[in-house]
Amino acid sequence: MKKKILIISGGISKERLISLDTGQQVANELKKNGFSVKITEPDNNLEKNIKFFKPNVIFNALHGQFGEDGYIQTILERFKIPYTHSGVIASSIAMDKEISKKIFIKNKINTPRFFIYSYDLNKNDLITKIDKKLNFPVVVKPLNEGSSVNVYICNKKNIIKKLNLIKTYKKIMIEEFIGGREIQVAIMGNKKLGAIELKPKRKFYDYQAKYNTNAKTLHIIPVNLPKNKLNQAESMALKAHKIIGCKGVTRSDFKFYKEKFYLLEINTQPGMTKLSLVPEIAAYKGISFLDLIKWILKDASTKK
Ligand SMILES: Nc1ncnc2c1ncn2[C@@H]1O[C@H](COP(=O)(O)OP(=O)(O)O)[C@@H](O)[C@H]1O
Ligand SMILES: [Mg+2]
Repeated sequence: MKKKILIISGGISKERLISLDTGQQVANELKKNGFSVKITEPDNNLEKNIKFFKPNVIFNALHGQFGEDGYIQTILERFKIPYTHSGVIASSIAMDKEISKKIFIKNKINTPRFFIYSYDLNKNDLITKIDKKLNFPVVVKPLNEGSSVNVYICNKKNIIKKLNLIKTYKKIMIEEFIGGREIQVAIMGNKKLGAIELKPKRKFYDYQAKYNTNAKTLHIIPVNLPKNKLNQAESMALKAHKIIGCKGVTRSDFKFYKEKFYLLEINTQPGMTKLSLVPEIAAYKGISFLDLIKWILKDASTKK
């Protein structure tokens, strides 16, 4: 009998469109290769769709809030059907940049210095605090978004304006700005898969640089660094993956400046379109898009 795969994509996060793309591309690849596939939204019909379709495995193609942060994983646990990527706890820890960075620091994984701002300081006090603790420029970012949504590089002049733009988050991470190179590492089932370097033509690797091909971000693979140097980042990514208890495939985002790697975050549900970074790293290592998807499905069936 054909294996039945239910793909959950879309959702209500700011990464909805990317998720739909991931879901569609994974579905196409699986259909072409003899799987029975159904795509669903994580909406009120989810339970009905699961019960009616009776999938062998659920492919979680969601990104961002409610899809990558333990919420949908909690719902899926009820059905006792294997689902892809990390489980409830690892997903929620990895999605929270404050908690995950505290765990990186505890485990001696280098990450940019930061503090959390909750709109509790006046303008002057905030600027004094940044001058004292981090220096300008700084990066401000929400604790639980992805795709560079609402990430801004700020100087003294524009920080208050930018913070006011994203007031709905209530808590914001203010992080030291790290110059230099942008390198991302993929981990596949507790093993180092490889790395890729991104050279955005824009000011930084923002939403446009990630998804708009007209923005012409260069993807460089193999990364031009000595093997032992790159291995440092790969080891940091593997360590982060393991201590957070991630499963399946993860992608860790680094800055590399003055010979040091800084881990920005670990993503438990990296983009999975043919042009996404993890499939690109996998392809370089001789693993086709189909084989990567099949591996993720198989891995879903092992204990979380
Ligand atoms: N501390 C930092 N210094 C320099 N650039 C940063 C810093 N933090 C984020 N960036 C830039 O913003 C991008 C997105 O930040 P990241 O922390 O990975 O959040 P997201 O979850 O939105 O991907 C990074 O890939 C990088 O280009
Ligand atoms: Mg990132």
